[in-house]
Amino acid sequence: MSVTVRVPAKVNVQLAVGAARPDGYHDLANVFLAVGLHDEITVTAAEELRVTCAGPDAGQVPLDRTNLAARAALVLAERYGRAPDVHIHIAKDIPVAGGMAGGSADGAGALLGCDALWGTGASRGELLDICAELGSDVPFSLVGGAALGTGRGERLTELEVGGSFHWVFAMAARGLSTPAVFREFDRLAKGREIPGPVASRDLLDALAKGDVDALAATVSNDLQPAALSLFPELADTLAAGRAAGALASLVSGSGPTIAFLAGDAEAAEGIAGALRASGTCRTVRTAAGPVPGATVV
Ligand code: C5P
Repeated sequence: MSVTVRVPAKVNVQLAVGAARPDGYHDLANVFLAVGLHDEITVTAAEELRVTCAGPDAGQVPLDRTNLAARAALVLAERYGRAPDVHIHIAKDIPVAGGMAGGSADGAGALLGCDALWGTGASRGELLDICAELGSDVPFSLVGGAALGTGRGERLTELEVGGSFHWVFAMAARGLSTPAVFREFDRLAKGREIPGPVASRDLLDALAKGDVDALAATVSNDLQPAALSLFPELADTLAAGRAAGALASLVSGSGPTIAFLAGDAEAAEGIAGALRASGTCRTVRTAAGPVPGATVV
């Protein structure tokens, strides 16, 4: 018997970052939007725990127990006193190490898949607790839609969104490590007073109204200077998208994927074509959001 779960990527429309905490994490006001790029995770009963991955970036995905999908199976099995004997196959479409929560999506997908396969009867709350244990962005991969994440990003308040937003994503030639980008944020912040992170009221209103121009005026990412400092060529990608008519452009999460906001689906295709021709990125995709979170298919 197999269970397949479809899980979306995310873009952060606001990522406000506070000072480093004693535990090394940063308090965030993190406004997540789930977008229509998906990984599909299939779990099948097997002799022992095994992870496989297919897709253009599959070679960059670890197949050992550091993979969040494997960790999800191990944590769930441990909680319910059973062996984690499952084959997890990841059909990967979300860019790897791109700042779009691809690893987190696989963690949430494997968790939901194993839960269904094993019939644990875990409550939604228990599954969300395990997600938070796996990583700061994993709860959002389960929930999807749009949400404000506080704490280290794992405490979610779901948000109403009054429309669909069209995005263009420019994937870079190499990845960026999330811890490295936060460390660079700390280095750049040294000697400065960092205010506590707060969600922008205007941005939340723009989402609620489905107002793309208001959203374009309010998107922000405090990790962007750190990502650009580690990966200066991203400035060329940002400039190419703006020149092509994007309403807003920003680094997605810890990067290096760049997200461009477009007025509608047609405008998004135009910006995507210009970015492909610019030679400033590896691949370009379009996607709209919000979309639902992890779903058994
Ligand atoms: O929670 P997760 O394992 O995804 O975090 C990966 C790394 O990103 C952490 O080890 C930390 O370096 C950094 N991080 C952070 N503050 C957050 C979330 C992540 O510093 N709120």
